[in-house]
Amino acid sequence: MFGVGYIGSRVVQELLFQGRDVIAVDNFFASDRRAIGAFRQAHAFSLVEGSIVDPATVEQALRLTADIDSVYLLAAQASAHPDAAPPEYSEEVNLRGPRIVLDAVARLRPGVPVVFASSTRVYGTALPDEVDETTPYGVMTDLAHLSKCYVEKLLEMYAAIHHLPCRVVRLGLAYGVAPVMKTDIRFMTAPNLFCYQAATGCPLEVRSDAPLALIHVEDAARALLWAGDTVHDAGFVVYNGASGVSSIPLIAEEVRRIGETRGVEVVIRNRIQRTERDGRLPTIRSALELAGFSPRRELGEGLSETLDYFMVRSQ
Ligand SMILES: NC(=O)c1ccc[n+]([C@@H]2O[C@H](COP(=O)([O-])OP(=O)(O)OC[C@H]3O[C@@H](n4cnc5c(N)ncnc54)[C@H](O)[C@@H]3O)[C@@H](O)[C@H]2O)c1
Repeated sequence: MFGVGYIGSRVVQELLFQGRDVIAVDNFFASDRRAIGAFRQAHAFSLVEGSIVDPATVEQALRLTADIDSVYLLAAQASAHPDAAPPEYSEEVNLRGPRIVLDAVARLRPGVPVVFASSTRVYGTALPDEVDETTPYGVMTDLAHLSKCYVEKLLEMYAAIHHLPCRVVRLGLAYGVAPVMKTDIRFMTAPNLFCYQAATGCPLEVRSDAPLALIHVEDAARALLWAGDTVHDAGFVVYNGASGVSSIPLIAEEVRRIGETRGVEVVIRNRIQRTERDGRLPTIRSALELAGFSPRRELGEGLSETLDYFMVRSQ
């Protein structure tokens, strides 16, 4: 498991719950030592602290056991925030890191499936009207998401050259409660940030009305595991992992509505220039769902649990 941050920690939790062993690699660029420390109490969990751009660290993790079912590649500079990291760091980790991991898997664990957490943002910053896995890449506005296109093609290349089973899951924007929760606004997804701001009495700033795909963090973890567990052959397969489509203004309104039910007054500041839309949201189809996977969690439920999580901690 490369990368035990927000989504990775939920994947680890699910794997441990299933009684499986987990070897994790993280350099704590954007994770939480206390939350990972709790995992370390489980005998089934081992941590290799280090960077995926260090071949020795990657090799050490892959050699800890001969019995590896799947490799999950979630380590990344994942944030689109301009102050999250220098561009050099995003390039180093997001472009070189995956190549180093794939080289090591091809050499040390050939045949083991690699599952990569990509993003529905590869379709562009605003989701097109109709999306499935054949929809072409759209326009990117940050290095973290641009790097997803390169890594997807890298997996395709390793599947072709080294016959590695490579699976890409293009996740929607994740929300909900996971073992690793961020409170640094540079690393929070918009739904979780709005819940945090609502709980701490800060206004919610709406800066875009572009439609976007969403997924609860629990469903994101299940989708990644499903992709790794249902590999029947080598080759390269792409899945969308999204449970719905919304927009930042609609999410802010939903947080305000949920806040009202808890006696919390939520202020929304609209800073968007409205784009010409007819009010319809795009539709996103998923080959994962056609193959039998179904998301379980809904946006309202996920926002409620997240608001409650931050309200309890801000008292
Ligand atoms: N959160 C979302 O909404 C979302 C949506 C689509 C795709 N994704 C992708 O899923 C993956 C996980 O996202 P997340 O939200 O959990 O992000 P995150 O930042 O919480 O997790 C990434 C993890 O990678 C680690 N990391 C960073 N640099 C590293 C390095 N050099 N070596 C080892 N570890 C390193 C960080 O410490 C962190 O624990 C990312 O690739 C992200 O782009 C996330």
